[in-house]
Amino acid sequence: MRAYGFKSNGGPEVLEEIQVPVPRPGPGQVLIEVAYAGVNFAEVQHRRGEFGEPAGPGGYDVPGLEVSGTVAALGAGATAPAVGAQVAAYLPAFGGYAEFAVADTDFVRPVGRLPLAHAAGVPCVYPTAYGVLTDAGRLHRGETVLIHAAAGGVGSAAARIARTLGASRVFGTVGSETKTQLAEELGYDALFVRDAFEDAVLEATEGRGADLVLDPVGGPVRQAGLRVLAPFGRVVAYGDLGRHADWTADVRELWKNNRTVAGYNIGDVARRSPATIGEHLSRALSALASGALASVPPAVVPAADIVEVHRRHEAGRSHGKTVLALAGHRAG
Ligand SMILES: NC(=O)c1ccc[n+]([C@@H]2O[C@H](COP(=O)([O-])OP(=O)(O)OC[C@H]3O[C@@H](n4cnc5c(N)ncnc54)[C@H](OP(=O)(O)O)[C@@H]3O)[C@@H](O)[C@H]2O)c1
Repeated sequence: MRAYGFKSNGGPEVLEEIQVPVPRPGPGQVLIEVAYAGVNFAEVQHRRGEFGEPAGPGGYDVPGLEVSGTVAALGAGATAPAVGAQVAAYLPAFGGYAEFAVADTDFVRPVGRLPLAHAAGVPCVYPTAYGVLTDAGRLHRGETVLIHAAAGGVGSAAARIARTLGASRVFGTVGSETKTQLAEELGYDALFVRDAFEDAVLEATEGRGADLVLDPVGGPVRQAGLRVLAPFGRVVAYGDLGRHADWTADVRELWKNNRTVAGYNIGDVARRSPATIGEHLSRALSALASGALASVPPAVVPAADIVEVHRRHEAGRSHGKTVLALAGHRAG
């Protein structure tokens, strides 16, 4: 089958079209004929080598954490979804940039009335967005939320979800002044430039600060996030986009100021609480299909454009969600 992978870690140009064997579904898995694959920042990290060296068939790794498509075969013991069902799937072990992928049934859900292209950007992004807001962030109705990397896939999903969960105000930060104009389109009350967000957040909240800060950036941004917390506020750390050295929160500072730092990692949830991912995925697919949850449809690009797509994500030039069309788009 056709896939897009890399055999050495490096820049976007290491990604190439390859031929690899169609994977076989193991016990409790299904084989999916992939229609679309979502693009996530984690796949940039995978390609760069942050998850280790490639070790797949032929020495290649095939990235891709989320797909939509049609169930083509069932592994031993798997009974649903049936062959022919249109589904979305989270793939913690990667492999989504390919014509076929295998997925554990825990992480596969029918797309219902949601178009397949839209559904491809849901299985990793939405469980993460629900997870950082609820499981880690403990969002309460009426609270104020601040979302860093606000225009990215997870950020822009979290903004809309926060609203449906009763957040009263949703602010975000972005890397450039031009992106602040996306606030309305992405569902924010306002977007601030990240370099100067502290004063902007305090001003917008009449000095009270935010109850919940979602932070995939790290370093000085994470430290500043603690400083803009309202009493009993939480910073949820869930990424290190800025590639800053890690730092240790001063526990005395936390309890003296009624602040909390929480962490979230979907890979750990997949291993230790897989049902949580299935629940969030079902909830997201049905809320998006019914319109209860709004979202901007993803940009659909041919899979052959993967190098340019990775370049855009790595440079922070993306906004919203991009999905790769695997069916009917051949490179060359
Ligand atoms: N822990 C978990 O379980 C989990 C799960 C999913 C995703 N994540 C993390 O969530 C983050 C966002 O993922 P995503 O897939 O939503 O990303 P994405 O769609 O590629 O968007 C990333 C956005 O981050 C912003 N950004 C901030 N600092 C950046 C930097 N130094 N380099 C590049 N972009 C930067 C960029 O816009 P601006 O600079 O304009 O803000 C960019 O638009 C990543 O760190 C990812 O690893 C974590």
